Amino acid sequence: MVTARVLELSERLAAAGIEGARGEAWLLLEAASGCPRASLMAGGLARLSAAQEARLETMIRRRAAREPIAYILGEKEFWSLPFEVGPAVLVPRPESESVVEAALARVADRGAPLRLLDLGTGSGCLLLALLSELPQASGLGVDLGAAALTLARRNAERLGLAARARFEVRSWGEGLAGSFALIVSNPPYVAAGDLAALEPEVRAFEPAAALTAGPDGLAAYRALAPHCARVLAPGGSVVLEIGQGQGAAVAGILASHGLVVIERRRDLAGIERCLVARRAADRGER
Ligand SMILES: C[S@@+](CC[C@H](N)C(=O)[O-])C[C@H]1O[C@@H](n2cnc3c(N)ncnc32)[C@H](O)[C@@H]1O
Repeated sequence: MVTARVLELSERLAAAGIEGARGEAWLLLEAASGCPRASLMAGGLARLSAAQEARLETMIRRRAAREPIAYILGEKEFWSLPFEVGPAVLVPRPESESVVEAALARVADRGAPLRLLDLGTGSGCLLLALLSELPQASGLGVDLGAAALTLARRNAERLGLAARARFEVRSWGEGLAGSFALIVSNPPYVAAGDLAALEPEVRAFEPAAALTAGPDGLAAYRALAPHCARVLAPGGSVVLEIGQGQGAAVAGILASHGLVVIERRRDLAGIERCLVARRAADRGER
């Protein structure tokens, strides 16, 4: 029975230091065989073909080398939507959903034709999750990485959102004109010296440009804040993901560009994870 393989596979993954090895063994077995778990458990596949065996072995080796499972499967769910992912983009994190929640909470009328901007869009997950909830909105996602934007465009197509999503290679808001009612960003925020302490999946496989931002982890906020202040529409909101303990410093950077923090959100782990800001001059408006 194919299911008998799960024990052996999960032992190999556990020996490589992977938590949740059994669940991951199932996922890889499903992907390599092309059969859903329920069907495998019901004995729907007596044995793997040579091609399936070879696929499974490659997947297990990659995972045992600590490559993120999302890169091996080529997909990660975010905001209950499937996103294609690969080494050009950060794997969307569940805690980043707090940015989407905070942004949506700033929208008084979900049917309004809002213009959205996502700085450092990567897979496009923040922008596309928002567009999925705001049927008349349109948005621009920018990133320094052209390969990331190729993926983001594919995700927009696959989710049926391409008509409302544009993607451009750009450094933050440089040279960007126009005004946006909602600006979201999950910029790199790890201090360069902290990278070595991260899990191997992150430090050895995810793009460094998506992770680190100078010696104190705040360089990206300093770079993008003036652009946010310049292109934010009157009454609009900026929603930024932040790293643990960065709230006060990022609020200070925003304040020096006339943006005042009006809300702080914690993620499911209780860590302050996102800041919502608007123009100091807008106080009182929504
Ligand atoms: C932490 S990742 C976030 C990706 C995605 N928004 C998410 O939440 O999963 C940061 C992104 O910022 C991009 N980035 C880094 N420096 C940039 C810059 N100067 N201008 C635009 N994007 C940049 C990286 O390429 C990366 O895709």
